[in-house]
Amino acid sequence: MISQREARHLAAGALRAHGLPGRPKALKWRSAPAQAQLFTAGNLLLKVYAPDARARGQRQASRQTEVASALAQGPFRAPPVAFFDGQTLAMPRIAGPDLATLWRDGDPTVPTLAGLWLRAFHDLSQHRFPFQPVPHVKWLRHVAGQVEKQDRLVIDPKAFTAVCAEAINQAHALRSQPSTRAIIHRDMTLANLLYDGSVTWGIDFENTSEDAPLRDLFTLALDFVTLCRRNGCDDGRALTDLRAAYGDNRTAPRVREFLTRCYALHVWANTPLAPTPIHHARLVAVRRLLATGEQLI
Ligand SMILES: Nc1ncnc2c1ncn2[C@@H]1O[C@H](COP(=O)(O)OP(=O)(O)O)[C@@H](O)[C@H]1O
Ligand SMILES: [Mg+2]
Repeated sequence: MISQREARHLAAGALRAHGLPGRPKALKWRSAPAQAQLFTAGNLLLKVYAPDARARGQRQASRQTEVASALAQGPFRAPPVAFFDGQTLAMPRIAGPDLATLWRDGDPTVPTLAGLWLRAFHDLSQHRFPFQPVPHVKWLRHVAGQVEKQDRLVIDPKAFTAVCAEAINQAHALRSQPSTRAIIHRDMTLANLLYDGSVTWGIDFENTSEDAPLRDLFTLALDFVTLCRRNGCDDGRALTDLRAAYGDNRTAPRVREFLTRCYALHVWANTPLAPTPIHHARLVAVRRLLATGEQLI
């Protein structure tokens, strides 16, 4: 962890070392010690990592450099890394809100912007990949076992393990069904997409491993559902627009349904017994999905 004060000091030093003018201003007025602290300085955004999070910083700097050079033009991009000195990552500051803010403010184009950005990002590495249920089944068995032994405490454990068992039963018939893989984002929330009025920018890259790209689409879709529940907007319309803009036609519908179940169970498995309001809203949304079989992605 690093305090805002310590991080500001490092950020100021990094600016001086690069001969850059200006003083770092905290993005949030007050921020508790965290893995990283954010500042602006002129046209730059500085992300200062805690000493024990340097490896994360390094991963973010290299992955962001790769993505930014591949998505350097057009309406869907990533900001290039201006410098990374081991602890401070500098990049252009995007002048505009994140998509969660824009959506809360009622902009109806947000689901389309999010879906198109994700399509452009996955297109960099996506390829066909016959579906392999085994890793999913391993995880389902593992997590159901933990819950049965009370090594993992979840809300309504009986219902949880029953859904795990159904998913395990469903899995084997899906072997080799059409599906894809790509280097996914892995934290694809609306807060990690910024819009400057003409370009949508993705940020917060770190992951370099391949997975099912629908995992990212699920995270985005769940963000719309939970934000809509809290704000009373129409999530059906948002999800239709998101899916249409993303446009996946390479995954078998049954694989898609199975993945939805697994990702929903993942959210349930990681909801604390005393959930925060946001955890609670996500749990309500995924339990509804599991109960109705509704198509989220
Ligand atoms: N390049 C940038 N330009 C403008 N705002 C940014 C930029 N990078 C981050 N932010 C703002 O800071 C927030 C957190 O940054 P992020 O890199 O996602 O850190 P965290 O790891 O805390 O999620 C973003 O949601 C966005 O509001
Ligand atoms: Mg983020």
